[in-house]
Amino acid sequence: MLEALAAVESVKLAPEGGGTVRALSRIGYDLQDALADLIDNSIDAGAGRVEIIFFRDDEAVTSVTIADDGRGMDRKALKIGMQFAGRTDHAASDLGVYGMGLKSASFSQCETLSVISRQGGAVSAARWSVEQIDKDWSCELLEDDGAEEAFRRLCLPSKRPATGTLVVWDRLTRLGVGGGDEDLDTFLATAVSRIEAHLGLVFHRFLAQGVLTLALTVKHVRRSLALPRTVKPLDPFDYPSSGAAGWPKALEANLPGVGALPMEAHIWPAGSLADGYQLGSRSGGAYQGFYFYRNSRIIQAGGWNDVVRNDQDPELILARVAVELPPGGFGVNVQKSGLQVTAAQAQALLRAAGDGETFETYLDAAREACAASKREGRAPKKAPLVPGYGIPVGVRKSAAKRLAGEGPAEVLDFVWEELDDEELFSLDLTDTRLVLNKNYRRAVLGDAPASGADVPLIKMLFFLLFRDDFERLRFSGKRAAYLETCNALLLDALRK
Ligand SMILES: Nc1ncnc2c1ncn2[C@@H]1O[C@H](COP(=O)(O)OP(=O)(O)OP(=O)(O)O)[C@@H](O)[C@H]1O
Ligand SMILES: [Mg+2]
Repeated sequence: MLEALAAVESVKLAPEGGGTVRALSRIGYDLQDALADLIDNSIDAGAGRVEIIFFRDDEAVTSVTIADDGRGMDRKALKIGMQFAGRTDHAASDLGVYGMGLKSASFSQCETLSVISRQGGAVSAARWSVEQIDKDWSCELLEDDGAEEAFRRLCLPSKRPATGTLVVWDRLTRLGVGGGDEDLDTFLATAVSRIEAHLGLVFHRFLAQGVLTLALTVKHVRRSLALPRTVKPLDPFDYPSSGAAGWPKALEANLPGVGALPMEAHIWPAGSLADGYQLGSRSGGAYQGFYFYRNSRIIQAGGWNDVVRNDQDPELILARVAVELPPGGFGVNVQKSGLQVTAAQAQALLRAAGDGETFETYLDAAREACAASKREGRAPKKAPLVPGYGIPVGVRKSAAKRLAGEGPAEVLDFVWEELDDEELFSLDLTDTRLVLNKNYRRAVLGDAPASGADVPLIKMLFFLLFRDDFERLRFSGKRAAYLETCNALLLDALRK
């Protein structure tokens, strides 16, 4: 529009340091997405093993290290690697696209990022800190002997790789939990399980093929015993037999600007308790939708991208569609946790067809499988809900035993977060969490101290009141109005 206007002068406007990093740290990475982004780099570097260690003391997680046995970097490559949007010459088969992941993922979690890498017998090390970026964008190159020693000590010490890379996050900004040892234990137990499930899902093809092993460890800085947990592949299409005869079927969508996308449309059997259906703590129904893969890595797990109106359609809980994206970066967000699909592309996905079926007939078949299971009384047998994070560990254990016996269970977590003033609580059906409004925490606690496992009696009452809603996975209009009334009644009582 204004291209024709003549320029009278041009000025260099380099990014302002502090603002840039503050913006980066708000880019919307979860811890698990940030870790996945670093694992992408390790895979691109040909690594066969990646180990993530959370170092903790009594109060907090103090550092996180991500170590691999990939091809490593020499000093020159390290400098480019540390640069924001540094030059990249990725092959189409690489997971890396933007030249940003290492930095943006790290600064979403920490204030100091160090990278130590070994290649050709030499170790090179560099460090970014938010202060240095703030000051003048100077990246510090670190002394060789200390870096060598740190590499030997921290980068897969049991394997002593000839080449490899160690990424260290210090001064963590998002991983602090105030309130003592038990709190941190509970927090870590929940966080590590979530990360394990997420990484197992995102990289399931690599893990199942045996080209990658991933291990997670929590290590107390003053104790030596720390057993690594090996991440198991979590395949969202791994059911024993299909939920509908004739399925899965291959469909193809022709996306404007992209080309032909191969898709495989699946229908899960109803009521499955398989890990591949439950996918960690979430209930399987919340995981319906598209599974976008790019170079074998999951970019998005579930959700219909506006192709179907409701991402949690109760009639489509058995429907999952694997979609293979082309190798280029097409529409993938920077943190590689989702896909932007334009309206025209959504239309094209809806018009996908193949194998004598269309996307619409596929959805009908998935709906019919769900309806048939209900008619036949095979109502999805769900794992019972048990209270989780937010309740003291001992109480959780006995509750799980009473409600689920030794069998599988789904966990309801309790968290304090900011909600609207008219809400004391809110039910988060997607993540199976009961959110309490932290603005009322003081009032609810009375004289009791705040901790991750505070007010267990009140949380347990909430659990009993609302567990059916989590099992049903949806609210009717009437039920939503009732929840609103519950909030109003409780707040009247609290404000008295
Ligand atoms: N673990 C590693 N081993 C070897 N080289 C690495 C490692 N991590 C990063 N690098 C190098 O640093 C570069 C920058 O990494 P970064 O994650 O910031 O961007 P990218 O992977 O190129 O693209 P994207 O932003 O899509 O992740 C990589 O291209 C790679 O050359
Ligand atoms: Mg990367």
